Amino acid sequence: MTTLTQIERPAGLDHHLEQVRSLIFRTLEETSLREVLHDSPSLASIGGKMLRSRLAHRVGSVTGVDTNLLVHGSAAVEMIHTASLLHDDVIDGGVMRRGLPTFWVEKGKAGAILLGDLLLFKAVDLICRVADGRYTHELVKLTGEVCEAESEQELILQGEESQLEICQSIARRKTGALFAFASLLGGDGDAHRREVLKESGYLLGTAYQLADDILDTRPEDDASGKTLGTDAARDIVSAARLEHVDLRAHLDDLLVQSVKILNGDQQAVKGIQTYIAQDLQPALSALLG
Ligand code: IPE
Ligand code: IPE
Ligand code: MG
Repeated sequence: MTTLTQIERPAGLDHHLEQVRSLIFRTLEETSLREVLHDSPSLASIGGKMLRSRLAHRVGSVTGVDTNLLVHGSAAVEMIHTASLLHDDVIDGGVMRRGLPTFWVEKGKAGAILLGDLLLFKAVDLICRVADGRYTHELVKLTGEVCEAESEQELILQGEESQLEICQSIARRKTGALFAFASLLGGDGDAHRREVLKESGYLLGTAYQLADDILDTRPEDDASGKTLGTDAARDIVSAARLEHVDLRAHLDDLLVQSVKILNGDQQAVKGIQTYIAQDLQPALSALLG
């Protein structure tokens, strides 16, 4: 049985991210896959920019949420996000991710799909082990939204004309949903705060995905660390194809809304504003070029 012990109080963001990475590693090391973990460069770099863990920390450290919940919740979200990328790279035929050859290139498509499945269920197991399991249902529902949006984009919308409403609806669920989970952790113990923080996370993740659609149209460069051009190649709806839409103004509006809906809750506003300034804006600038 895993001993996912109490986690000491973090001094700051870097410490939080280190705790999250360490919990993910310990969780995987306790499976029979530990050998693969150690000889796979792409797995060793698990984590990426950790935007979702950053969000949980920026908000939860201001609102005073239990560290153990923030670390377990962040690790679960990063594992689900990584699983979605393992599967996405197989679907898209992406050969680079996080600056390294993708896992399927290294170990084969079957291995990438199966490891993604393992990560998904180990993430659910992690969230069951904290806060008396009261975040499990929320995480399962939000991960279901990710899968639904991904399937919809593939099975229903492929080849359809890209319209803002459609792109927004896909972005909100496929990426917004996990940002929503990271954010709502900051409302632990206060149902109203949790709901508004959840919506704030949805808006931030929607903006991030819409900007990522634009990145996909840029010529491949080392800075992004991943294969680009796959949306157009696969003819899927993308914000990059929107005509007559000022996307940058729209993204700014989403960020403004993400603060406005917090309705003056000073601690929540401080957490979200810090996240936007320190983490999200730099990431958006990198996507938009
Ligand atoms: C990439 O997400 C896929 C999207 C949801 C847009 P990130 O840009 O957060 O990926 P990593 O985790 O930093 O690699
Ligand atoms: C990645 O989506 C998978 C999810 C967001 C669930 P994308 O295909 O848009 O992301 P990148 O551009 O490959 O990172
Ligand atoms: Mg992709």
